[in-house]
Amino acid sequence: MNPTIYKQISLSTFLTQIPFQYIQRKLFNMKTPEKPLVVILFVIVILCDVSLARSEKSENKKITYIVHAAKSTMPSSFDHHSFWYKSILNSISKSAEMLYTYDKAINGFSTSLTVEEHELLKSQPGILKVTPDKKYKLHTTRTPKFLGLDKIASLNPVTEKSSDVVVGVVDTGIWPESKSFDDTGYGPIPRNWKGICQTGINFTTSNCNKKLIGARFYRKGFEASLDSTNETKLPKTPRDDFGHGTHAASTAVGSPVENASLFGLANGTARGMAIGARVAMYKVCWLGACSMSDILAGIDQAIVDNVDILSLSLGNIATNYFEDNLAIGAFAAMEHGILVSCAAGNTGPSSLSVSNAAPWITTVGAGTLDRDFPTYVRLGNGKKYSGVSFYNGKYLPGTLVPFIYAGNASSDEGKGDGTCLPGSLDPKKVAGKIVLCDRGKVERVEKGNIVKSVGGLGMVLANTEKDGERPMPDAHIFPATAVGFTDGQAIKKYLFSDPNPTGTIVFEGTKLGVEPSPAVAFFSSRGPNLITPEILKPDLIAPGFNILAAYPNNLSPTGLGSDPRLIDFQIMSGTSMSCPHVSGLAVLIKSVHPDWSPAAIRSALMTTAYKTYKNNQTLVDDATKKPATPFDFGAGHVDPVSALNPGLVYDLRVDDYLSFLCALDYTPAQIEIVARRKYTCDPKKQYSVTNLNYPSFAVVFKGEHDEIKHTRTLTNVGAEGTYKVSINSDNPAIKISVEPKVLSFKKKEKKSYTITFTTSGSKQNINQSFGGLEWSDGRTVVRSPIAFTWKLQ
Ligand SMILES: *[C@@H]1O[C@H](CO)[C@@H](O)[C@H](O)[C@H]1NC(C)=O
Ligand SMILES: *[C@@H]1O[C@H](CO)[C@@H](O)[C@H](O)[C@H]1NC(C)=O
Ligand SMILES: *[C@@H]1O[C@H](CO)[C@@H](O)[C@H](O)[C@H]1NC(C)=O
Ligand SMILES: *[C@@H]1O[C@H](CO)[C@@H](O)[C@H](O)[C@H]1NC(C)=O
Ligand SMILES: *[C@@H]1O[C@H](CO)[C@@H](O)[C@H](O)[C@H]1NC(C)=O
Ligand SMILES: *[C@@H]1O[C@H](CO)[C@@H](O)[C@H](O)[C@H]1NC(C)=O
Ligand SMILES: *[C@@H]1O[C@H](CO)[C@@H](O)[C@H](O)[C@H]1NC(C)=O
Repeated sequence: MNPTIYKQISLSTFLTQIPFQYIQRKLFNMKTPEKPLVVILFVIVILCDVSLARSEKSENKKITYIVHAAKSTMPSSFDHHSFWYKSILNSISKSAEMLYTYDKAINGFSTSLTVEEHELLKSQPGILKVTPDKKYKLHTTRTPKFLGLDKIASLNPVTEKSSDVVVGVVDTGIWPESKSFDDTGYGPIPRNWKGICQTGINFTTSNCNKKLIGARFYRKGFEASLDSTNETKLPKTPRDDFGHGTHAASTAVGSPVENASLFGLANGTARGMAIGARVAMYKVCWLGACSMSDILAGIDQAIVDNVDILSLSLGNIATNYFEDNLAIGAFAAMEHGILVSCAAGNTGPSSLSVSNAAPWITTVGAGTLDRDFPTYVRLGNGKKYSGVSFYNGKYLPGTLVPFIYAGNASSDEGKGDGTCLPGSLDPKKVAGKIVLCDRGKVERVEKGNIVKSVGGLGMVLANTEKDGERPMPDAHIFPATAVGFTDGQAIKKYLFSDPNPTGTIVFEGTKLGVEPSPAVAFFSSRGPNLITPEILKPDLIAPGFNILAAYPNNLSPTGLGSDPRLIDFQIMSGTSMSCPHVSGLAVLIKSVHPDWSPAAIRSALMTTAYKTYKNNQTLVDDATKKPATPFDFGAGHVDPVSALNPGLVYDLRVDDYLSFLCALDYTPAQIEIVARRKYTCDPKKQYSVTNLNYPSFAVVFKGEHDEIKHTRTLTNVGAEGTYKVSINSDNPAIKISVEPKVLSFKKKEKKSYTITFTTSGSKQNINQSFGGLEWSDGRTVVRSPIAFTWKLQ
């Protein structure tokens, strides 16, 4: 795929501008040879659930379902749940095939059924819920230094304690030959590791080593979703043919590779966050998308294999937890002590867009780095406009060359719309010129290809008003750059007014020290949390913008058939990139504190995250250039060095999450689906969502006068000490009080406090306010963000 980078970003554009059928064709039937190009990257969302596919297909077409069973009701005549599931399936269909039997991730199985079979199955005894399979979207030389990892001693892969920690990456596969998976100097594979290296096309057991210790693939669900008339077979292999999985895996734990770059850009030593750790790939994504039934199979196996951290750079629209199979699989992983780190999504900056927001998941948004890839466009009138590009090949001549707007270079007089559609440009008008194309309708790198193929010398790609001022760099196949909307308009004005317009593009390479950084990446999905507004999401942000990491070296950076350039490293952006950063940083904490729960590790990452720059100004939102809020960055930007010594943590165990499900008023069946066990809520107990021991606060006032209490328990994981509380808020109409205000801890001691938020009516049409709470012993500060919303009815 194309890799590049900003794809995800383009996703929202892509969705709104491209007719839906086109997407369907691209995603499902893949009729075009350059399919990899298309597909989107990373995360999120799209509406591709089966109902779409259904409408197009004949009545007999089978649909894949994920079936949740009440294992507590399994008749004792069955020795194993797999026999029971089979017998249920056989009782409603002679022909239905068991795609997967799940052992750990959910209690249940997946299968493809006709409409009638589905109706029958739903009413079978022991069946809790039957959910249609869904397609999920896939949602760093600089980052280790940016994160201060060079300040942590003992990062030598041979001695680093993280060598016992295994990260499972559920993604598009792995390119084992990448130097990022070199195992030189690594000790024996951890003894409790149960995974295997699954052989397949162009993949043998010798492709795994002491770094890449497991690789498997799951494709039955995706295959079942393909049009039955299509002979296309997915290659049976864990090998990455897309790039996303290799990039994510190397970001989390890649071995150091000196002098890594994309055509010399972003050059430096590429390394993962936890270079000593091991990685296992569960390939569940095909042709750029992933079926939930396959994802669950990967999670199921990762639990059995004994991974410590699961990294999932993929997602879909947020739904209730009992209908969200990814959240259910993550619940099972959490119960096995596995921290599950997920991409928050790339559907920002609109609010309520965050996905993977279950409280037992670590939800990671994206921040920018202090690095950019600047260019400028110089016009015949002497004016200069800055842009960005990953093009770093043969430059344009230093002299000015003729420059034309694509809308004035149409092969079909009067029909050209400036978007550089295939076949729309007249070679006679374009040859020897730079062409200005508007964004939209066609992939950005494909526009470069189109202009080049009709003899253009270069391209300037202008954002439309909707794309805004942030231009998208790409590894174009010829001299091309991107500019924001306003600059694009100014250039057009010149092109329309000068009888003989000229220009050139100057490429300036890699620029470091860009300020302000980090900023919240504009595409990063935002809160509030649609499903449980009382849980603040995303949890935190990590680098996810212009990240260099390993890539299959049989792929080109554009994914264009006509692009002969093969690369070892690729620059990509998305919460797909920030998620594996946090997965790798969780390894570092886990390796120093092997007994910590996933919630304790997340708490350490969150309470030590920063939300201001050194000058005490709040981190900026790159979408608005204004101060960002906890709905954008959660607890703030990850600071791994501080996270190793958080002082106090907010811990959570399975029972706490079960109480949370009770507080949500889930029915017994809904709880059983999520928790995979019968659990009875105590009718005498007052369950409250606000008492989930979360390291952040999302306060939802039900009226202009309201009082809300949250209770929390801190566990001392540092030295004995006395912590004092301080609070702040940007809204004087909200009173915040904490009781007690001082907590003295012995080693390992737990202490609780209650925080009360009172709003007194002078809301003045503000719908959101923010604040913060800090416990400090004078050295260690334990920070929590607070976000207030009003739900007035
Ligand atoms: C099946 O999919 C492949 C790969 O995308 C495509 O090349 C082929 O044309 C498709 N065949 C049919 C019959 O749709
Ligand atoms: C098979 O693997 C080799 C590396 O061992 C690679 O060069 C080649 O491109 C791969 N072929 C395919 C089809 O992936
Ligand atoms: C680093 O990489 C560049 C381009 O990839 C290459 O020209 C250069 O020789 C390399 N330098 C070293 C020290 O390997
Ligand atoms: C990247 O390359 C440039 C130019 O070749 C060089 O000046 C710079 O030191 C390199 N940066 C790193 C981090 O190696
Ligand atoms: C170029 O296109 C613009 C807008 O589409 C139009 O206003 C202008 O007159 C055109 N210029 C020429 C020389 O055709
Ligand atoms: C930032 O705030 C801290 C604590 O309030 C203060 O000690 C420090 O001097 C401030 N720094 C700047 C640059 O204002
Ligand atoms: C607050 O919400 C109301 C109702 O949704 C809306 O009309 C109003 O514009 C919002 N105010 C602000 C400041 O966002």
